[in-house]
Amino acid sequence: MRTCIVPGSFDPVTRGHVDIISRAAMLFDRVVVGVLNNLQKNPCFSLDKRHEFVERACCAEGIQAEVVAFDGLLADLVRRENACAIVRGLRGVPDFNYESQFASLHRQLLPDVETVCLMQSPKVDNISSNFVRDVGRLGGDISAWVPECIWEDVERGLNGKFN
Ligand code: PNS
Repeated sequence: MRTCIVPGSFDPVTRGHVDIISRAAMLFDRVVVGVLNNLQKNPCFSLDKRHEFVERACCAEGIQAEVVAFDGLLADLVRRENACAIVRGLRGVPDFNYESQFASLHRQLLPDVETVCLMQSPKVDNISSNFVRDVGRLGGDISAWVPECIWEDVERGLNGKFN
């Protein structure tokens, strides 16, 4: 049983993330999506919402993935889940420097674990949660970047209409 972790902030999950998770599911027997509870980053969506959006998006696409929240070190989650790889999406040159440092750090923390970078598919390239948040808050159309099953809720959330 080969397990991989797909970690991220998912603030909120985008079609680009879903593309990577679904391709990870084709490569590994078990996919665990790790949603970081990172208070330092001051996320726009609560951990519960980010977790829920990833679950709904995977479910709508029929992707077999477990979604877990994590605190602290990603390396600890990798050990806890007995994973052999960390999967990250790469949107080209702008992501490369960060991802190569990320991979090298994890090579030192977890010498027996591979960091696998998948190039984003052209149809979802250059989508970022940042853009989704900015455009959505300013009333722009985010439907092309966010999974269909959640985009209305994401839009409402960005406009402060949760609860
Ligand atoms: O979606 P993101 O923000 O690019 O994901 C970054 C993430 C969550 C993978 C990274 O910040 C992370 O793993 N944080 C947990 C703390 C940790 O292990 N830090 C060392 C590696 S950056």
